[in-house]
Amino acid sequence: MEHLTPKEIVAQLDKYIVGQADAKRAVAVAVRNRWRRQQLPEDMRQDVAPKNILMIGPTGVGKTEIARRLATLTGAPFIKVEATKYTEVGYHGRDVESMIRDLLDSAIALVREEMTESVKTSAEAQVEERLLDHLLPKSEDGGSFLDDESAARRKRTREKMREQLRAGELEERPIELQVEQRATAIGMFGQAGMEMDVELQSMVEKMLPSKRDTRRMSVHDARKVLLGQEAEKLIDKEKIHRTAIERVEQSGIVFLDEIDKIAGPESKHGPDVSRQGVQRDLLPIVEGSTVMTKYGPVKTDHILFIAAGAFHSSKPSDLMPELQGRFPIRVELQDLSHADFVRILREPRNSLTKQQAALLGAEGVEVEFADDAVEEMARIAYDVNRRDQNIGARRLYTILEKVFETISFEAPDLPEKKVRITAAYVKERLGDVVKDEDLSKFIL
Ligand SMILES: Nc1ncnc2c1ncn2[C@@H]1O[C@H](COP(=O)(O)OP(=O)(O)OP(=O)(O)O)[C@@H](O)[C@H]1O
Ligand SMILES: [Mg+2]
Repeated sequence: MEHLTPKEIVAQLDKYIVGQADAKRAVAVAVRNRWRRQQLPEDMRQDVAPKNILMIGPTGVGKTEIARRLATLTGAPFIKVEATKYTEVGYHGRDVESMIRDLLDSAIALVREEMTESVKTSAEAQVEERLLDHLLPKSEDGGSFLDDESAARRKRTREKMREQLRAGELEERPIELQVEQRATAIGMFGQAGMEMDVELQSMVEKMLPSKRDTRRMSVHDARKVLLGQEAEKLIDKEKIHRTAIERVEQSGIVFLDEIDKIAGPESKHGPDVSRQGVQRDLLPIVEGSTVMTKYGPVKTDHILFIAAGAFHSSKPSDLMPELQGRFPIRVELQDLSHADFVRILREPRNSLTKQQAALLGAEGVEVEFADDAVEEMARIAYDVNRRDQNIGARRLYTILEKVFETISFEAPDLPEKKVRITAAYVKERLGDVVKDEDLSKFIL
């Protein structure tokens, strides 16, 4: 949420990511700056450009993870894209502007959810009536010629049914429901639909008939479907789109991953034409321009861009100068130490050890990690990273998998439902692999 202070944002990120204080602070300040800007008088607000961030660091140290967590944290429209996914306009692949359209799509989903929430009570009342209509079919003549007495009786039955419904006694009762399915250009034409021009896409979608299906389902499932339909009626679609566009323009965040892969000097030959091309296409969007979407034009001037890359074989200075200038805040992420690995294994919410224990818990097996086992796995990860390729915390995944290979397989049949992982066990599972350099290249 944007009202979180930088400290609070960092504290939230700390729950999931070990170390990398500089990067956390930078993104926290950037997010807070959006809120600060909102507090300014109109004329000044227009002039305050977001300070885009470039995160630089080796692979597997938490760049993408920070962005991912930031996404769930901020209520802002957020999208993570790979720079390598785009190619220069006119070449095969997606054009850069599509990232703004994707961002808008996510904003629309966000706003729709909020608005649905706000009309929920009234929608739910409607749903109840409709469920009762289904549960209590009208009499042959449509009920219009009922005499007073039967009308009263009918009403009583309906109220009784309402009580049962509210008490949850009719949840499994099957009813028949009309559901409408709008065809989408993408569903209809697959890849071809995806590559269609937006204008064309929405035109095609308007022409496609919506399919009506009668489906049989339980009251429980029908309630969800009906809630969607009723909420849809109560929500002003135009307003969703307007709000979403505004939200994107004022507080949207784009995380541009793998930016280093499009850096590099212009090459004279080969398919590399697109690298510089993508940078060139990216520039106006980052600098501020207007992107056409099927819901209307979107201005990108105040969207925050956070770019990230390992910059192994290229440097930030290999990016086009104009683009470099648009990412004034540089943060470096640190290589992870043995101590970091220990913490990553143990501390984050849903850390790897917790995940593994929970998975095996589903089999009724209780897993416990001895402290020295965690130390040992971290040490092996660190050593292998240093000796072979440094893939950061990702190394922990392969190591943990290897340690658990047998237990995972045997879990349902284990006679002893308590497993304690010790350093000795870790060494036993990994000792040979670690010693043999060639072998470890394949396995770890
Ligand atoms: N500092 C950290 N704290 C906790 N977990 C981490 C940390 N760094 C990496 N990880 C874990 O390692 C995995 C890979 O990290 P991430 O995807 O963030 O790498 P990256 O820095 O984006 O690398 P790349 O440059 O290859 O994209 C993630 O699943 C994440 O959970
Ligand atoms: Mg990444």
